[in-house]
Amino acid sequence: MKFTGSHILSITQFKREQIDQLFAVADRMEPYAHRRKVTRVLDGAILGSMFFEPSTRTRVSFGCAFNLLGGEVRETTGFESSAIAKGESLYDTARVLSGYSDVIVMRHPTSGSVAEFASASRVPVINGGDGSNEHPSQALLDLYTIRKELKHKGRAGIDGLRIAMIGDLKYGRTVHSLCKLLSLFQNVHLTLISPDELRMPADIVESLRAGGNTVVESDAMESSISHVDIAYSTRIQEERFSSKEEASLYRGRYRLNQAIYTRFCEPNTVIMHPLPRDSRVEANELDNDLNENPNLAIFRQADNGVLVRMALFALILDVADEVDRHARDVNWYTERRF
Ligand code: NCD
Repeated sequence: MKFTGSHILSITQFKREQIDQLFAVADRMEPYAHRRKVTRVLDGAILGSMFFEPSTRTRVSFGCAFNLLGGEVRETTGFESSAIAKGESLYDTARVLSGYSDVIVMRHPTSGSVAEFASASRVPVINGGDGSNEHPSQALLDLYTIRKELKHKGRAGIDGLRIAMIGDLKYGRTVHSLCKLLSLFQNVHLTLISPDELRMPADIVESLRAGGNTVVESDAMESSISHVDIAYSTRIQEERFSSKEEASLYRGRYRLNQAIYTRFCEPNTVIMHPLPRDSRVEANELDNDLNENPNLAIFRQADNGVLVRMALFALILDVADEVDRHARDVNWYTERRF
């Protein structure tokens, strides 16, 4: 895949060289994301941001990323405020809206819908999550975070990574995309922890194994997180279940807190979560008592979303090498605590 002008629909489009290219650009976005510099490289460009499912991080960080490159964002959220509520097809919506933007990011509850939309779009479309299928930009920012966190601990590279994914592995699109992305690497040891009914889809497990990686499936958390570099927790995707009652059978099954972490994890294990974590008492998959744990990377992970999404825009719109030419220092107070 070459980035310029491409849709980003599935993580399977990527090879390792594109990941390296993307992450190198993301690294260069740091002064802009941290507000030490501004660039106007996308001055005049418009992002169509279309979210037909709840979203905070993905929607806002894609929007911020575009603004930070100097572009403007037009938002459509929810079916009720769009003509889809009047029976308009995805095809017609794509034909029309792609005339109003230079690039579109879209989230939709139906698997495959963003690809269908993209096939009628006249501009590049990025999949911001299609049902329980995929969430490619999340997988990219997750891998970027893993790489950065491990580097801080003096370890280079993803080959040989030991990672546990915990929770709803059946409906969680972030873990689907992340597993597909990890299958590009060598000797990754994955421990997939879920209730039996919510296991990772078999085709994803098979392709990981076919690539020479090790996959162990388990329904017990404590005994399975003892020897991992990354513990990646997820929320039960209650919106994908036929009823709230069915989802509540699984909510709260796995709860990671400081006591369990201290007892079972290696002292360097990094804790990740795509967020939102479900902090209601009946769920609480990542307890608030982990908030001061320096290995809790969830907010750094969310911050990294801006860098990776800026890099995606810069590459898709072919301005990655122009960003610094359109830059200046900022005038305002920018001290931030990270
Ligand atoms: C995830 C999603 O929407 O798939 N959130 C996100 O984009 N960071 C995970 C979730 O909702 O549980």
